[in-house]
Amino acid sequence: MIVPLLDLSAQHEPIRKEILAAIERVIDKNNYILGEEVKTLEQNVASYCQAQFGIGVSSGTDALLVSLMALGIGVEDEVITTPLSFFATAGCITRLGAKPVFVDVDPVTLNLDPEKIKAAITSRTRAILPVHLYGQCADMDPILSIAAKYDLPVIEDAAQAIGAEYRGGRRAGGMGNVGCLSFFPSKNLGSMGDGGMVVTNDEALADRVRLLRTQGGRPKYYHKAVGGNFRLDTLQASILNVKLPYLDRWTSMRQHNAVQYEKLFGESDLSEKIGLRVPKAVYRESNVGHYHIYNQFILRVPNRDELRSYLKEQGIGSEIYYPVPLHLQECYQSLGYKAGDLPEAEKACQENLGLPIYPELTKDQQETVVRVAENFYRD
Ligand SMILES: Cc1ncc(COP(=O)(O)O)c(C=O)c1O
Repeated sequence: MIVPLLDLSAQHEPIRKEILAAIERVIDKNNYILGEEVKTLEQNVASYCQAQFGIGVSSGTDALLVSLMALGIGVEDEVITTPLSFFATAGCITRLGAKPVFVDVDPVTLNLDPEKIKAAITSRTRAILPVHLYGQCADMDPILSIAAKYDLPVIEDAAQAIGAEYRGGRRAGGMGNVGCLSFFPSKNLGSMGDGGMVVTNDEALADRVRLLRTQGGRPKYYHKAVGGNFRLDTLQASILNVKLPYLDRWTSMRQHNAVQYEKLFGESDLSEKIGLRVPKAVYRESNVGHYHIYNQFILRVPNRDELRSYLKEQGIGSEIYYPVPLHLQECYQSLGYKAGDLPEAEKACQENLGLPIYPELTKDQQETVVRVAENFYRD
């Protein structure tokens, strides 16, 4: 049995007609830049994230970049962030001439460890940028309280976490000063190309992001600031407007699959035999709610690379998120970090393995994944 890492056809087939109709509506109007489709999506996604304002942008990367720009982050500034994330999290900081300062992750959630933030704050620190990795919120209460104490804005990288809830049902992206979403096709809410959104409750910040999104021109051709072309494509917005009403159902299906994996791995002897760990969602205050939206389902396995090759041979897709922590990336050699500086993130990079978790994954497919993993470790 083939089990792909992701099967977008399974998601698109039942809504194909709706998507085609939405695309046709855009073509009929010949309005391909911003407009009603983008505005509708901005309102609905912002309210989904418990934020007042949404600004559709070209990607999750650009959501981060334009947010940092709007906050005035620049040369000689420092931004505290996690070493365990997709490259864009740190890359956007560097592109503005600022310096990412990496703080190690919590060994259970693999999110920024709030206890370690304080020691990284200097007179140059300008912001804290936590990532809600894999679809589970970072521990925001202590992060927000340190930020308030030092008067630092918090930029949430919620690219993997749309709808994820933290203590008290607060949603990813709506807790800090600004939240950044990605609509990359593999995200829980994915477009058919690139897309992203900035969400915020700060009206002035929203206005600044909107200005920077269109080259800083207001009115057109009169430039108040140096921005860029960070617009969300209207066709992508029309597709996302079709998909958004399905998001809760898809997320519940992912959660169901996660619970199923936990059960199947729990019944196997893999944890005792090889120390395989299925990290638990930690903010599960009850059995309902989006405590973890499972954009990724991550195992921790000691001899990960061999298991991954075996899974591949048996037709099972998997991925490593991520193989190299950001502080040890070649392009960051000049920052002066060395192996051993951030041990939890480094260990996670050696052990993590993402398994198929997409909503339409069947129970049979999940049983196959676990059985194949068991076979690999059977001597
Ligand atoms: C944590 C994180 N940050 C930022 C991004 C960048 O988003 P995009 O690919 O839409 O530019 C991603 C997407 O892969 C991500 O996972």
